[in-house]
Amino acid sequence: MTAATATPVMKQHLIDPEICIRCNTCEETCPIDAITHDANNYVVDPEICNSCMACVPPCPTGAIDNWLQVLTSEAYSKDEQFSWDVLPEAKELPAELIDTDVAAETETGRAPVSGEDDTESLEGVPSTEAGARIPPWSAVHPYVNLYTHKNVATATVVGNYRVTDEDTESDIHHIVLDFGTLPFPVLEGQSIAIFPPGTDANGRAYHARQYSIASPRDGERPKYNNLSITVKRVTTDYDGNPVNGVCSNYLCDLQKNDTVKVIGPFGNTFLMPNLAHANIIMICTGTGSAPMRAMTERCRRLTKNREYNGKLMLFFGARTERELPYFGPLMNLPKDFIDINLALSRAPEQPKRYVQDLIRERAADVLNLLDDAETYIYVCGLKGMEVGVIEALQEVVSSGGKHWPDVHAQLKAQGRLHFETY
Ligand code: A2P
Repeated sequence: MTAATATPVMKQHLIDPEICIRCNTCEETCPIDAITHDANNYVVDPEICNSCMACVPPCPTGAIDNWLQVLTSEAYSKDEQFSWDVLPEAKELPAELIDTDVAAETETGRAPVSGEDDTESLEGVPSTEAGARIPPWSAVHPYVNLYTHKNVATATVVGNYRVTDEDTESDIHHIVLDFGTLPFPVLEGQSIAIFPPGTDANGRAYHARQYSIASPRDGERPKYNNLSITVKRVTTDYDGNPVNGVCSNYLCDLQKNDTVKVIGPFGNTFLMPNLAHANIIMICTGTGSAPMRAMTERCRRLTKNREYNGKLMLFFGARTERELPYFGPLMNLPKDFIDINLALSRAPEQPKRYVQDLIRERAADVLNLLDDAETYIYVCGLKGMEVGVIEALQEVVSSGGKHWPDVHAQLKAQGRLHFETY
C-alpha cells in the first residue's frame, strides 16, 4: 500500500501547467522518481509521491507547490494530468472526511508542512536542504510569474557582448534586453526564461530556458526598462561530446534589435537584503556570477548616494582570468567597496584552486562576517560546488568553536544562506 492509498482523503501533489516552464528541475530533484513528463506536462505520480518536499524549493516558478485535497480513490492519474491545460477546481468532499488542516493549507496554496515530518527542522525549515526557503527579512517583495507561456512578453535586444577573452573556450555573453513600455519589474537574484525558436525532434515547440538576471532592479541602464543576462554558449554535453545548446547558441548569436520571447520573472527567496548595513558574501563560478553582478551593481549605485555601507565579499571561480566573465569591470571596483577573491582552476603555473579553497583561506574574515546577524550568503554556479562550499563553511565555523548544524539551521531559518546551482 502506498502513501496514496492509506487514507480515504489525500492531499494530492500537482504541478500547475499554466505556470510550469518545463525546466525539468523537479524531475531531476525528486529523490524517488515520482515526477515525470510527456511532451505536454510535468506531472506527479500519486502512487509514488510521499510529499517529501525536496522538489519544492528549487522550482523557479512555484508551479510545483500545489496541493489538492481529493478522495484517495479519485486521485488524478498521471495520464489525466498529462492532458491538463489548467489545474482542476477542488471538488467538494464529504464533510466527515475533510482534514481541516490540509484544507486550510490547500486553500491558501501553501505547501503542507506535515510532509516535512521526517526532517529535523528549525522554525519549519527542513535540515536536509542546503539553503533557505525564505528570503532575508528585509528583502523587497518580488513580482513573480507576471508573464507565462500563455502570456509571453517580448523584449528587444539592445546589446550583446562577449565578456570572456576572444580566444578562450568559454564563450560567455552579456545580453541586454529592453521591454519598452511593457511592465517587467525585477529584483536582483530573480531570473527570467526565454523561448528559443523552433521545435524539438518530436515537433514540439522548445521549452523555455531559465537565466539569472545580471542587472539591478533599476535597469542595466539606470532608469531604463531593461535588464541583462549572462549566457555561456554550450558546445558540449556533460560528457564532453559535441552538442549545440539550443537556447544558448540562439542567444549568443542574437543581433541588436532582434526580439525574444520572455516569461517570468521568477524567484522569491534568492533575494538580497534591503538594508544599508547588511553584508553580502557571494560565492560563484562562471555564469553564476550573474546575480552577483546584479547585487554588486545595486550596492555600487546605492554607495554613490551613501545609501549602502555594508561589506561585500566575493569568491569567484573560473578556469583562468581570461575566462572569468566581467573580469575587467570587476577589477576596476574599489578595494574598499568589495573584497574580491578569485579562484582559478587552470591558470598556468598556479595550483588549481576552487572557491571553497579560498573560503578556507579567508576563514577569519568569513567568520567575522558570519558573527553579524545581517550577513547573507549567496551561492550560484556549478551544482558540484554546493557540497564543497557547505564543507568549507562547516570547517570555517567549526574552527571558530561553533557547532555547524546549529549555525547552518539558523542561517536557513533566517533566510541568510541561498543556493542557485545547475
Ligand atoms: P575546473 O577547471 O576543474 O573545471 P566552467 O568554466 O566549467 O563553468 O567552471 C567554472 C569554474 O568552476 C572552473 O574553474 C571549474 O574548475 C570550477 N569547478 C568545477 N567543479 C567545481 C566544484 N565541484 N566546486 C567548485 N568549483 C568547481
